[in-house]
Amino acid sequence: MYLIRGIAFIFYICIAKRLPTSDTKVFGKVSKKIRQICGKAMFAKCGVNVNIERGADFGSGRRIEIGNHSGIGKRCSLRWEVTIGDYVMMGPEVVIISQNHLFNRTDTPMALQGFGDPKRIIIGNDVWIGWGVMILPGVKIGDGAIVGAGAVVTKDVPPYSIVAGNPAKVVKMRESQVSGGQNL
Ligand SMILES: CC(C)(COP(=O)(O)OP(=O)(O)OC[C@H]1O[C@@H](n2cnc3c(N)ncnc32)[C@H](O)[C@@H]1OP(=O)(O)O)[C@@H](O)C(=O)NCCC(=O)NCCS
Repeated sequence: MYLIRGIAFIFYICIAKRLPTSDTKVFGKVSKKIRQICGKAMFAKCGVNVNIERGADFGSGRRIEIGNHSGIGKRCSLRWEVTIGDYVMMGPEVVIISQNHLFNRTDTPMALQGFGDPKRIIIGNDVWIGWGVMILPGVKIGDGAIVGAGAVVTKDVPPYSIVAGNPAKVVKMRESQVSGGQNL
């Protein structure tokens, strides 16, 4: 298991991460498939039809859990303990960080104090995370929520809310409509 994970990690960072984006006409589908296979080998849990986009960075990925039909956007960074539900859409350049540096001593440089315990970030089902969002340690994002582009999420996000800004605040709630949209 460790060997397969190690090989997948090296293959991912050296090759798969640099392959074309999944929407590229030539090689897009095959690149998506290759990155998906890496995700299956590297993540603690990886559902069906997961789309890991070009340039996504997640270290060894061994504490990442991702559900079915969800994506990790282009050039996103996920560290370390992250749970992603089903049907989660993620824009490019999202940063998800589950750990802080320790800073409780003032007589020692922070660089020498090490890290606090990781606090898992949990993203529910059917969540849309916009471009350039930053999600900080321990945050839970409820089912059906939308996180607006550029938001810095410091606190839990209620289900079916739309949050935006720095720090992210609820700007409105999603309203249910029975018609509209495409591919339903
Ligand atoms: C969050 C979002 C979906 C909301 O869209 P919407 O329902 O049309 O929202 P509205 O335009 O009605 O905005 C509601 C309020 O939130 C504010 N707002 C919306 N998005 C915001 C954002 N990203 N950052 C800060 N404020 C935002 C608006 O200024 C408005 O404030 P006001 O009521 O004081 O005027 C959209 O603004 C957004 O950020 N989309 C992400 C796009 C993206 O990242 N795409 C990448 C591909 S995944």
